[in-house]
Amino acid sequence: MTTLHRAQQLKCSVQELTRRDEVFSFLKPDHHPLIDTRHNVLLYVEGVNKSFDGFKAINDLNLYIKEGELRCIIGPNGAGKTTMMDIITGKTKPDTGQVWLGSNINLLKMNESEIANAGVGRKFQKPTVIECLTVWQNLELAMSGVRGVWGTFVAKLSGKQKDKLESVLTLIHLQDHATLTAGNLSHGQKQWLEIGMLLMQNPKLLLVDEPVAGMTHQEMDRTSELLNSLTGKHSVVVVEHDMDFVRSIASHVTVLHQGHVLAEGTMDQVQSHPEVKQVYLVE
Ligand SMILES: Nc1ncnc2c1ncn2[C@@H]1O[C@H](COP(=O)(O)OP(=O)(O)OP(=O)(O)O)[C@@H](O)[C@H]1O
Ligand SMILES: [Mg+2]
Repeated sequence: MTTLHRAQQLKCSVQELTRRDEVFSFLKPDHHPLIDTRHNVLLYVEGVNKSFDGFKAINDLNLYIKEGELRCIIGPNGAGKTTMMDIITGKTKPDTGQVWLGSNINLLKMNESEIANAGVGRKFQKPTVIECLTVWQNLELAMSGVRGVWGTFVAKLSGKQKDKLESVLTLIHLQDHATLTAGNLSHGQKQWLEIGMLLMQNPKLLLVDEPVAGMTHQEMDRTSELLNSLTGKHSVVVVEHDMDFVRSIASHVTVLHQGHVLAEGTMDQVQSHPEVKQVYLVE
């Protein structure tokens, strides 16, 4: 690659980074504090309440996510699923309640970037990859952190970093597209790349809001495969409306309704739950 080409790409990536108004959770250094999960629970959400102008969006919410588990959260529109993610990631502060990462890290005392640094990654619905960079460069940038943008273009990766990047590339099914510009990927591939960018930071907890919206069936199957392959290594919380997809990924499902947990169990258990049936029929 010529120096001019590199300089053009650097200009493009810096422009893309600086024009964004969202905090990039993947642009954080990978120095997570030690999380105490000796009770096998990674995330505690206890007695959480949140009202917006008198409307109770979250109502005495209790949720416990085990280390390495893949959990699906379902529920009708307005049930409070995204608000719950906003509270866990520090975007919204609850009125009352507790949110802890392991038994030692009080997330309510931290801001959004401190929570991301503690090992909580979040994927929003719209992919936010940097379109003018290649797949490989997007992953490299995610690993380097925002202060390393210059370094990404001039410094060589260590052998260990290269191995990590290659393993993530394989995991997200983009090993044959490493040199492709991200703007040329399909919608599904961009979603996987963004999950890969989050994985470069080794999150302990990964929150994913509606990952398969707009995907083809084949892309959905691959996404299910990808999320399943993360179990054991990361705790993953997926909010999704597509029931076939939920069935394909989660052994444990939580149904949220009016900001409260209505039912929890296997997909079969929750689908045969009389109140759950009623909520979805009313929809
Ligand atoms: N910042 C806010 N200000 C006012 N009301 C809000 C705000 N954020 C969420 N709400 C309200 O809280 C309720 C829960 O919204 P939320 O977006 O969490 O639902 P959801 O379960 O994610 O729904 P969907 O399935 O449609 O994405 C809704 O009635 C919404 O209008
Ligand atoms: Mg939502």
